[in-house]
Amino acid sequence: MDLRPVSDAGTAVRAAIAAASWAPSVHNTQPWSFEAAGGEIRVHADTDRLLRVSDPTARELYVSCGAALYTLRLALRAAGYDPVVRVLPDPDRPALAGTVRLGPQAPADEHTQMLAEEIERRRTHRGGFLHRPLPRPFLHALDGEARAEGARLLTGLPEPAVAAVADVTRAAENVQRADAAYSGELMRWARPPGSDRPDGVPADAYPRDRAEPAFVSRAGHRGEPEFAQRDYSRGRSWGYVPRPGAASPATGAVAAVVTAGDGREDWIAAGRALQRVLLFASAHGVSAAFHTQALEMYHLRDFLRREVFADAYPQMIMRLGVTDEPGATRRRPLDEIFTEPS
Ligand SMILES: Cc1cc2nc3c(=O)[nH]c(=O)nc-3n(C[C@H](O)[C@H](O)[C@H](O)COP(=O)(O)O)c2cc1C
Repeated sequence: MDLRPVSDAGTAVRAAIAAASWAPSVHNTQPWSFEAAGGEIRVHADTDRLLRVSDPTARELYVSCGAALYTLRLALRAAGYDPVVRVLPDPDRPALAGTVRLGPQAPADEHTQMLAEEIERRRTHRGGFLHRPLPRPFLHALDGEARAEGARLLTGLPEPAVAAVADVTRAAENVQRADAAYSGELMRWARPPGSDRPDGVPADAYPRDRAEPAFVSRAGHRGEPEFAQRDYSRGRSWGYVPRPGAASPATGAVAAVVTAGDGREDWIAAGRALQRVLLFASAHGVSAAFHTQALEMYHLRDFLRREVFADAYPQMIMRLGVTDEPGATRRRPLDEIFTEPS
């Protein structure tokens, strides 16, 4: 994004909302809308875009809105303001995820600028990673970014715990593939090649599977242990063809965003932390691949919380690593998501 200070508030607000729309969201549902009113920007959770089968409690929807709220604040900071954010300001209106007031003008620091530069560059990755282990101090720094937003990024899990997370992910993926309601919902958000819809997961955003299995076995080609991928293509030859050089990919560093509680505020904190972690990683050439299928199934999520994450609530599961493959994504235009006073 353009990082020059913006003294015209209206221009800064429009640019910041356009930036916020680049936040990650489950299946690229972009479940948000923005409204400028009464001197503040209101971020609304758009429950018309809720995944009713896989996200009945709206946890992932609020995680997505938290990522957008964080990005909005970051973009305003980068534009030279010191915004005042209120999360869930009205208990009677839970769909009002947050409000942001511009605040006084204040120059952006280097850290803010570094993160803001990544907003439009960051992309979700869905393949294996290059064999380039991430240094421990870097993973520690990512946790620092997550903590600054009220969550944690757990990394450095022992190998058996990583294998357990991979196994539970595979179990969830196989159950979802066999379930018509889950797979029907996923198909509604998976875009065929050439589609110009500005939401959902486009076909050039994931690698084409070598075989197109109806189930995911342990024999992996995205590193070992294999983390099961969402089945966006349903047996069709969608997806980009991975470069031949990417023959022996690595799993990367397995990480989880966790929170101490599990209410709407925690979900929003997880989303804010997620986006901050992703932008910091992106600024250091590191991408993330997500595997949240098990978190959509109550018993599996509870199992992971108790047995792997020491009773902390897992909000996102991801692999972090270095890739040289480009990502692909789309966003809805500003006039679809933003209402201004006339
Ligand atoms: C709560 C949440 C859950 C997600 N779960 C997955 C997942 O299981 N698999 C996956 O490939 N991507 C997952 N994603 C990534 C989204 O698909 C991605 O953010 C969206 O398609 C937009 O693409 P972009 O991140 O490249 O901008 C998740 C994102 C969020 C916020």
